[in-house]
Amino acid sequence: MAAPVPPLGSTRQAELYRAGIAGQKPPFPIVFEDLVRAAQERMTPEAFTYVAGGAGGGDTIRANRAAFDRWRIVPRFLRDVSQRDLRVNLLGQTLPAPVLLAPVGVQGIIHKEGDLATARAAKALGLPMVVSTVSSHSIEDLAAALGETPRWFQLYWPADRDLALSFVRRAEQAGYTALMVTLDTIMLGWREGDLQNAYLPFLHGEGMANHTSDPVFKKALLLPPAVNPISSMAHFLKVAFNPKLTWDDIAFLKQNTQLPILLKGILDPDDARKAVDFGMAGLIVSNHGGRQLDGAIAALDALPRIADAVGDQLTLLFDSGIRRGSDIFKALALGARAVLVGRPYCYGLALGGEEGVKFVLHNLLADFDITLGLAGCASAAEVTRERLHMI
Ligand SMILES: Cc1cc2nc3c(=O)[nH]c(=O)nc-3n(C[C@H](O)[C@H](O)[C@H](O)COP(=O)(O)O)c2cc1C
Repeated sequence: MAAPVPPLGSTRQAELYRAGIAGQKPPFPIVFEDLVRAAQERMTPEAFTYVAGGAGGGDTIRANRAAFDRWRIVPRFLRDVSQRDLRVNLLGQTLPAPVLLAPVGVQGIIHKEGDLATARAAKALGLPMVVSTVSSHSIEDLAAALGETPRWFQLYWPADRDLALSFVRRAEQAGYTALMVTLDTIMLGWREGDLQNAYLPFLHGEGMANHTSDPVFKKALLLPPAVNPISSMAHFLKVAFNPKLTWDDIAFLKQNTQLPILLKGILDPDDARKAVDFGMAGLIVSNHGGRQLDGAIAALDALPRIADAVGDQLTLLFDSGIRRGSDIFKALALGARAVLVGRPYCYGLALGGEEGVKFVLHNLLADFDITLGLAGCASAAEVTRERLHMI
């Protein structure tokens, strides 16, 4: 299916300004900081802290943003940028823009429809969705909601290889076209805010849809999850994350699937080179939005180092801190083929379900499109490191 081309930024601007003539303001905040505040008012304090918060004292979250601020865009002029093409090719698929919805688990704590609403928004915009292992709806239900929209499955490699393979088979059968193995969450980070709130969504039965619907997971239980949810939760906590993970597991996965594999969370060029050796299709340079290791290198600081090491050998993606169009521009300029967006769409989800997610992502694409043109680029391919200056 040809991916729908989103309206250019100027179309979106015109829509929003024209509504003002009729006295209509946008239904949700456009200013990112106001969006966060509005979402905070709508969510429970526990859910908001879980989404917005990070590891330790939030140092990595701050570093992620500070890294963007150090790079400034150097525009070029007089280059006819009236026609702009946001499309990119990723693993053989043409996407309408270099933006994917990052895997975000437990979306049921954000909105009652959870990731089903997110999937509908992704479908409306034609943007790929990466479905989390700890999603609030199952691999299969989300595939049905996404229809023809490209979808990838994010794997938290469990402490049970049979369960890992069962997830992979289910994803293959449900039409997911890539696997994204998250490496940075072999255990949960020390999250001060969540610990203070004594709040972990899984202990409230959230984020277990893929596990409780899985034949291998269910076989390990004495009673079905519906009959004994407590023992099902205890088993989930035992197997969900796996600090024993090594490159052997990646080799095993590679032998057991035809799907392209991307590793999420790579920050070191040597790990990136190793990923090439192990036949990986791509990497996501990411520090999990600062939720895992406090004091970690900003993901944007890691990006050019990794691009220099392996950028021409596999597909490089980026996340952690994308908030506005200029952030997407900077990540592309530093070597990413596309970016993943996490928290921004969660805030849209909190405020307006499917409509809220669409609103946030549509504006982000429009902002990126305008940024592209004002920087003197007519396509994502023209965004190179020469367009940036470090201060
Ligand atoms: C509430 C929440 C849940 C997340 N769940 C997952 C997950 O299940 N799997 C995963 O690989 N990453 C998960 N992430 C990390 C995102 O995929 C992504 O790396 C991060 O949000 C990007 O940073 P940003 O929020 O600054 O855009 C989660 C992030 C948030 C905010």
